[in-house]
Amino acid sequence: MPATQSTVRLINHLDRDYLRQALETDVRNGLTATPKWLPPKWFYDARGSELFSEITRLPEYYPTRRELTILRARAKDLAAAGRADTLVELGSGTSEKTVLLLDALAAAGTLRGYTPVDVDAVTLESAARRLAARYPGLAVQAVCADFERHLALLPRDGRRMVAFLGGTIGNLEPGARAAFLAGLRKTLRPGETFLLGADLVKDTGRLVAAYDDAAGVTAEFNRNVLRVINRELDADFEPESFAHVARYDGEHDWIEMRLRATRAMRVRVGGLGLSVDFAEGEEMRTEISAKFRLEGLRAELETAGFTPLRDHTDPAGDFALLLAGA
Ligand SMILES: C[S@@+](CC[C@H](N)C(=O)[O-])C[C@H]1O[C@@H](n2cnc3c(N)ncnc32)[C@H](O)[C@@H]1O
Repeated sequence: MPATQSTVRLINHLDRDYLRQALETDVRNGLTATPKWLPPKWFYDARGSELFSEITRLPEYYPTRRELTILRARAKDLAAAGRADTLVELGSGTSEKTVLLLDALAAAGTLRGYTPVDVDAVTLESAARRLAARYPGLAVQAVCADFERHLALLPRDGRRMVAFLGGTIGNLEPGARAAFLAGLRKTLRPGETFLLGADLVKDTGRLVAAYDDAAGVTAEFNRNVLRVINRELDADFEPESFAHVARYDGEHDWIEMRLRATRAMRVRVGGLGLSVDFAEGEEMRTEISAKFRLEGLRAELETAGFTPLRDHTDPAGDFALLLAGA
């Protein structure tokens, strides 16, 4: 890579009107459904991203540390296998772990571009600028977009490796996950690769603890979605009247995060002209986080048209990174 100035281009597919409309649709659908639910992408305003970063440093939250362990051991092999010059990262957040992949691509002499993609514009831009400063000559295209809707609009420059880290794939329900994987496969050219980080099925106690930490950070993160709705849609949720619940569903192999109303209440969502009643003890689902088995994930990748190339787990077998070719 030539030691020239890096460039940062900001691309926004989520302007205020789009965001407002998408949030309105999701909140109206979710709060009028039985049982009530909300999609996890609305956790992530700037405060939500900060809280998620805090979660990644909690003693109970093993996934980030395990994924880092794998990346430290394998980033060089993954870079060699992918032979990419451009790293696209979906749900990039603060891009902290990404540095290991970018370092490996830089050491291999191929790195030219980095394309982080996230719904949180504030965190996205600050990560993009930080990484542009770290790698001279890097062409950074930071894309504010929804990876469930905008894959076809992502930049196609270079030979890409698309990374999807942190186990975020687990937030998609099986049907949405299959659609996401097939949609992503369609956007890739032969020779390009997909690097997927996924949390694995394990002891239920450890799984639940990772989503219900003693310090209460995950509870704050969970309630943040109510603050986002209050601010953006003029609602009057009292976040403190909702208790954080994390439960493992062994039938589906996923953690469910919920918010439980601690008393009966009526919530007004002014922006939607909607009043919603909660019974005491009523639970609203705010996130699933699916846990995987390697053979199942390989099969899902194949069904979507990918060729699994290699997979790596940490020594404890807690987390996996899978590399698949298009
Ligand atoms: C669980 S965090 C993972 C962050 C980071 N990749 C990591 O491994 O630590 C999920 C990230 O995906 C982003 N995100 C969630 N849903 C999204 C969507 N539909 N489209 C784009 N980004 C999304 C969030 O803003 C957040 O940064």
